Amino acid sequence: MRDRFGREIGYARISITDRCNLRCVYCMPESGVKSLRHADILSYENILRICRVFAALGIRKLRVTGGEPLVRKGAVGLIASLKKLEGVSVTLTTNGLLLPEKARELRDAGLDGVNISLDTRDPSAYFRLTRGGDVRRVLAGIDAAVETGIPQVKVNCVPLGEDSREDVLQVAALARDRAVHVRFIEMMPIGPGTAFVGVDNRRLRQWLEREYGDWTPLEESLKKESLNIGYGPARYGSLTGFQGKIGFISPISDCFCEKCNRIRLTSTGLLRTCLNRSDGVSLLPALSDLNDSRLFADIRGAILEKPERHDFVTQKEAARGTMFKIGG
Ligand code: 5AD
Ligand code: SF4
Repeated sequence: MRDRFGREIGYARISITDRCNLRCVYCMPESGVKSLRHADILSYENILRICRVFAALGIRKLRVTGGEPLVRKGAVGLIASLKKLEGVSVTLTTNGLLLPEKARELRDAGLDGVNISLDTRDPSAYFRLTRGGDVRRVLAGIDAAVETGIPQVKVNCVPLGEDSREDVLQVAALARDRAVHVRFIEMMPIGPGTAFVGVDNRRLRQWLEREYGDWTPLEESLKKESLNIGYGPARYGSLTGFQGKIGFISPISDCFCEKCNRIRLTSTGLLRTCLNRSDGVSLLPALSDLNDSRLFADIRGAILEKPERHDFVTQKEAARGTMFKIGG
């Protein structure tokens, strides 16, 4: 369905847990966060019920996120069930730590694509950034995803600041040496991310071009038809000699709100229609009904109320979301 600004809402991100096996400095406070009790998170049954309504309302793409979705027991089974919904593709966003052992199961479940978060390939920098993560597992996870044949493998990189040049070049090289697309995302002033300056993607493009030569933008039509990428806000292009594409997601330097096609479901059952808003519509009351009419009405209502744009400048920080609750 369309929102009141005429945007066709076709994409839902489903956070299935706020727990994570990492503590990235720009996402989680060092002390960690109080995890939700199991009783407070949506059952897989309820998630499926909501996604069935999403599909009936025209959602064509579901992305399972977290926290770290693969730490929740049964995540692969949920993906297999979501895949049975008519006409939707199902993808996953993960930090990749559990991919070495889960890639095959995920492929067998029919997963259409996986996005793996990786900001640096340097083991000690990764350890510091994630407060304890082992980057070798992530790299093995990326390879496992490619080798088992998950159709679309992407790497997402959020550079922290001016010092990230070397990290950026190394992460980009993944798309040279492997059949993966690499996307660079500008740091958003959300939660602990507020403490980082990030890197403007226009500057990042200069770093890449100085090292790897011209970045040539892809035509929009080509992206959707032959590459099956570009449904989201990334602008893709190619570097000579690279197998995968390089994309830029620029929420700060190039606001993409007028094309925003997505909604987000939190693990507690809040429907959020903008990344930059902590408020949302709780679907819990509607879930207590036996039939779905209130669920349809509440979801339709929330989509109609979707804000026109994320406004990082004037929106008060307290009113913004928290990444580990919405999964990016
Ligand atoms: N700005 C941009 N991206 C962020 N992520 C987490 N916090 C932020 C932030 N403040 C990203 C992670 C991961 C995805 C789930 O969200 O790097 O790729
Ligand atoms: Fe976990 Fe992702 Fe947040 Fe890192 S950015 S702490 S991997 S949810």
